[in-house]
Amino acid sequence: MPDVTAFNDRSTPMSLLLSRRSGKARDMIAPGPDAAQMQRILTAAARVPDHGKLAPWRFVIVPESERDALAEALDAIYVAEKPDAGRVEREAVRAFARQAPALVVTLFRPRESHIPLAEQAASAVSATMTLAHGAHAEGFVSCWLTGWAAYSPAVTALFGAPGDSIVGFMFLGTAARPLEERPRPDLGEVVSVWRGASQS
Ligand SMILES: Cc1cc2nc3c(=O)[nH]c(=O)nc-3n(C[C@H](O)[C@H](O)[C@H](O)COP(=O)(O)O)c2cc1C
Repeated sequence: MPDVTAFNDRSTPMSLLLSRRSGKARDMIAPGPDAAQMQRILTAAARVPDHGKLAPWRFVIVPESERDALAEALDAIYVAEKPDAGRVEREAVRAFARQAPALVVTLFRPRESHIPLAEQAASAVSATMTLAHGAHAEGFVSCWLTGWAAYSPAVTALFGAPGDSIVGFMFLGTAARPLEERPRPDLGEVVSVWRGASQS
């Protein structure tokens, strides 16, 4: 049987889904997606199920030319929030902004609607995940990161409007080395067949 989890097996739609895995953002090298590839990746990400057609998500591209500015902005916010931060911590914050050839910040922008907030958030998460699949389909690796920056209101304000939240910092690029697979859940643990009342 072919190893359908081989990272480079994008030969069929199913092998594409079965082979996606994250890379480490700090290990990503050029090239990242060019403008046409990024357009396709984002077009795919914007095709997610979306109850009420609210588009409760946004994608903010941070171009390479703005990475230093982002690093400085994150550092300034970090120091304001954590005045005792040391040099190493601050350097890690700056390095976060500069890693990988491409960065897209995905935002959850909830709408006034009868559609429950959780459903709107589900659509935003789906868009973020589809972005990861789109990157894989275009031959790149991705990494979905959050951490301190995703939960800082001041960082969120760099990218979005009041009320937005950051779903993920999506780093995209080329894997510098073969990716390591991680253990995946045993399907026996996460899948069951409902058999009506006899189940309980
Ligand atoms: C919402 C979300 C936030 C994440 N944030 C981080 C993070 O801040 N740091 C980290 O090391 N991994 C984070 N991860 C995990 C990685 O993105 C990735 O899922 C993990 O490395 C496993 O890779 P896989 O995609 O091959 O399963 C996050 C995942 C999700 C879904």
